[in-house]
Amino acid sequence: MHPNVKQLFKQDIIDLFSHKRGGHVQKWIYNDQIRPDNTSGSTLWHNFITSSADYYPIQHEIDLIPQLTNQISHDFDTVIDFGLGNQRAINNKTIPILLSQTNLKRYIAIDVSENSLLGGTQRVKNQFNKIHISRINGDFYNQHDVEGIKRLGLFLGSTISNQDMIHGEEFPRNSIVNHLKTLGNTVKNSNQGTLIISFDSNPDLKSALSAYQHPSWISMMTGLMHDVAAELTPSGDFNPSMWHYAPKIDVQNNVLHHIICPTIDQTFCIGNIEFNLKKDDQFVIINCFKYPIDLFSELLTEAGFTPSNSPVRSTHNTMTLIDSHI
Ligand SMILES: C[S@@+](CC[C@H](N)C(=O)[O-])C[C@H]1O[C@@H](n2cnc3c(N)ncnc32)[C@H](O)[C@@H]1O
Repeated sequence: MHPNVKQLFKQDIIDLFSHKRGGHVQKWIYNDQIRPDNTSGSTLWHNFITSSADYYPIQHEIDLIPQLTNQISHDFDTVIDFGLGNQRAINNKTIPILLSQTNLKRYIAIDVSENSLLGGTQRVKNQFNKIHISRINGDFYNQHDVEGIKRLGLFLGSTISNQDMIHGEEFPRNSIVNHLKTLGNTVKNSNQGTLIISFDSNPDLKSALSAYQHPSWISMMTGLMHDVAAELTPSGDFNPSMWHYAPKIDVQNNVLHHIICPTIDQTFCIGNIEFNLKKDDQFVIINCFKYPIDLFSELLTEAGFTPSNSPVRSTHNTMTLIDSHI
């Protein structure tokens, strides 16, 4: 890891073990660090999404794209892609949406991952050689200045479903609304715009949880502890192999907490901070919110959007795509 990145990782792990925050470490679980069992976060994620028959969000969202492209306006001149993702997302979501636009002049991609940006924009360039393509390597939860008159933002892949929260805390309403406001400010600039957001709206949290009962997902959760061992070299009796996965459903707050716990007491230091973790202490690695559609429309309205009255939904409402004006 680059020293600056390592410093951010260290602070996030200190906040996790101090129970200050939860779910914020999700950005580190796709890490390419090779572990003793020859896995890495990114290989486990790939194994998970390609072999878990029950993991519905990706395919259910792709299935909704034709209906969405029929429904939205077709005269946007600028598309801003917030977090463009992998080849499957570009080919099955971004490109069909771009193809539906008859007046397209500009495609702007924003992502923290340099690899996603380079790979994704190249794929778009191969297909659209007359439009202007630009990349912003940065955080989409910061406001960015973009050109364009009729702007369409894409926030796909259910990225809004992963938010910080410690189990037992209140629903992080303000933080979600603020994230939506920031995306809205980038989309509208000083004028107005439209944002399409996909979110997981599965009302059946038990069946949603069963989608994650897969060896690669479980190893991905506990495997982060191997990255802690390799990158932060805690002194004392930190043991990256002695952890287990213990997810929790919080029905009231519509969230699955993906939690890991040490299977034995562990006392160690990271830098000069000492931790005394007890067996079965709970640490939230990632939260997957399953927003009811009405709640999500309320959050959008609170953030200044006018959500469409006809969101596109999967059978049984597992996934929803909604376009909103701001
Ligand atoms: C869940 S994936 C979604 C990808 C794609 N849009 C899709 O539909 O599948 C999230 C993408 O956003 C990027 N990302 C995550 N958090 C980000 C942030 N705060 N700022 C910028 N990019 C971020 C990741 O690198 C990844 O490419």
